[in-house]
Amino acid sequence: MSTRKPLIAANWKMYKTPAQANDFVTAFLPLVHSHTRDEIVLCPPFVDIATVVAAAQGSNVRVGGQNMYWKEEGAFTGEISAPMLVAAGCTHVVLGHSERRQFFGETDETVNKRLHAALKHKLIPIVCVGELLAQRESGKTADVLLRQTAEALTGIAPEHAGSIAIAYEPVWAIGTGKTATPEMAAEAHHIIREQVVRSLGREIADKMRILYGGSVKPENASALMNQEEIDGALVGGASLDPHSFSKIVLY
Ligand code: PGA
Repeated sequence: MSTRKPLIAANWKMYKTPAQANDFVTAFLPLVHSHTRDEIVLCPPFVDIATVVAAAQGSNVRVGGQNMYWKEEGAFTGEISAPMLVAAGCTHVVLGHSERRQFFGETDETVNKRLHAALKHKLIPIVCVGELLAQRESGKTADVLLRQTAEALTGIAPEHAGSIAIAYEPVWAIGTGKTATPEMAAEAHHIIREQVVRSLGREIADKMRILYGGSVKPENASALMNQEEIDGALVGGASLDPHSFSKIVLY
């Protein structure tokens, strides 16, 4: 058994108004009450953060942003900074999600800048990596994972890296109903962890949580989570319903 505490994070993407977010938390908290085996995080849209933080106050549920800019403040219309997330009550932040890379121009370099800023402000970063279907089919999965992981971690000092979590999210499995088999995920996690060893050393790599994301559902959560290499889940679609997400948390 690994000593890494599993992290189960809900990525709500662009779903839920503040009222809907409040309803979710009200229904969800009793379902996971007193559950301490896993770290539970909800990542709502920015406009819902205050509501979710207030509703989850005093509970075992933490709140994270889905993205952030690396500057602290300034003339950057439409952006949100790490200190703002912290001030709003967030403890975590998702960085470099494939939808940010695909639709909003996020690159390995900008993920790296965001990671530096998140660590500076003591947010727990969940850094997303993962290959496209064409990359998997052409045998490039390992290359892509090694590059994305190495570039995300560039210039990060091991002494500041202890809180980082990485989410392996094969892009072809996100929102498609196709899941990597537990063995495929475990193999990818092993590749990522070996790169973390090269970037940050064995000690940090052994402690680092590597989550799986991509069509995680109540039905497949335990098979995935039972893999020694899988230290949690980043859940999109199945996290929008409190009952379904609680079943994943309680896998
Ligand atoms: P999914 O999304 O669970 O809907 O596949 C996962 C994610 O994008 O983080």
